[in-house]
Amino acid sequence: MNILGISAGFHDAAATVLDDDGNILFAAHSERYSKQKNDANFCNPLIRELETYNPIGTVAYYERPLVKQARQWYAGQGFEWDKLSVKKLVHNQIGHAKWWDLRHYKNYNHHLSHAAAGFQTSVFDKATVVVVDAIGEFETTTIWAAEYVNGKATYKKLWQQNYPHSIGLFYSGATKLVGLRPLDEEYILMGMAAYGGGYAKDIMKLDLVSNEWEIKFRENLHMGMSTKYLSNFSDMDIAAAAQDLAEDLILNVMLRAKQFKWSDNLVYMGGCALNCAANARIGNYFENIWIMPNPGDAGSSLGAAALAHGGRINWRDAYLGHNIPGPYPVNNVLDELLTRQIVGVASGRAEFGPRALGNRSLLADPRGSEIKEKVNDIKRRQQFRPFAPVILEELADTYFDMPRGFEHSRYMQSVARCRVPELFPAIVHADGTSRVQTVPKDGSGIRELLEKWYLMTDCPMLLNTSLNIRGEPMVNDRTDADRFEKLYGVKVCS
Ligand SMILES: [Fe+2]
Repeated sequence: MNILGISAGFHDAAATVLDDDGNILFAAHSERYSKQKNDANFCNPLIRELETYNPIGTVAYYERPLVKQARQWYAGQGFEWDKLSVKKLVHNQIGHAKWWDLRHYKNYNHHLSHAAAGFQTSVFDKATVVVVDAIGEFETTTIWAAEYVNGKATYKKLWQQNYPHSIGLFYSGATKLVGLRPLDEEYILMGMAAYGGGYAKDIMKLDLVSNEWEIKFRENLHMGMSTKYLSNFSDMDIAAAAQDLAEDLILNVMLRAKQFKWSDNLVYMGGCALNCAANARIGNYFENIWIMPNPGDAGSSLGAAALAHGGRINWRDAYLGHNIPGPYPVNNVLDELLTRQIVGVASGRAEFGPRALGNRSLLADPRGSEIKEKVNDIKRRQQFRPFAPVILEELADTYFDMPRGFEHSRYMQSVARCRVPELFPAIVHADGTSRVQTVPKDGSGIRELLEKWYLMTDCPMLLNTSLNIRGEPMVNDRTDADRFEKLYGVKVCS
């Protein structure tokens, strides 16, 4: 019988279904179905899609309710007696419908679920696992020794730091300080960082960090960051300081993890692993790196299911969500690119994770200075934020200095310095870097599209941004795609 993994009730709810053989049958975020960004709970359209994966015998919850409640009580967030039963929490999400054939209810340590989502989807037999997030149970930073013993994944915790000392809460505190939404818009803070500088970092470090090596802070940053010493700095300077300091702290954790000498393979998970500017620096510490493309709490639906399964999970790619059937519309997309420069794609299975990787993407010709404005007319993003390139993998080195550990950046997890920024201003940030997606010779639709585009134009890359109506999550089904076409007058090919 299949296994259902659940991450829900806090932010960005998600579900994963595995079969007995460790194949991922389905994985998706609730927000794509409810159209509520970062929806914390399951919604009926998602539950209806989950029903097609019956029989499900085991449900695995991504954290331990009693420990979570104890942490919330300790943090002054109250204690909710009705949220102690896993069975009840699960039923609150998926309902009491009789078709559920659930016999086993399991739940796991919050950080262990993160670790398993990474290690068990990796190709490694043995790895050092680092988890850095904001808040969950008590742990905020953990290092694990992971390996398979008789085919079963085993984890031994080597080090931990606990709430309220948290790199993620620190970064979210800075996000809030510049007027952005914490636990949501950290990626915008990361983009702002390229425009700031000065000595705000020194003040931030002196004022907030009590022990850099132990990842200890002077104040509890859960409810925000004190502004008393930073009021003279611009938002951009604060962003740069927070980014720089977060990178120092993350690299300290990596150095500590390396010093355990468990393995040269690194699995890195937790919400902080979404910081692609910091990721570009971790290749100096480990030989091989794997970050499951959905490293935050939503990805822990896969982690919890993987723990219930016990063994290696067969990871193929991140296209695990709702399916829009039919072949990839290569020729239609090319026609639109050549005539109108911009086109949407909604084809195949939706991406699991925050990045559009070609199946729910808005694509554009990346050359020239006008395209950024054109795409921004649709996206209405802050002008300072660049778009990302998707490129034929074998040519990535020609155009970008791919950082160590991310020579193949198939899930847009690292930035790389662009060698020819003057040719592609739309996909290059103020600091000269781009968040690159490389596409290997894997027979995929996006690969065929890039190959044909390259033959026709001599340009091996496209601008790639997520296909979403402003303020909404990514397009999920064809109805969403039709709405997008109607609103913006841009064709969406399926
Ligand atoms: Fe987490």
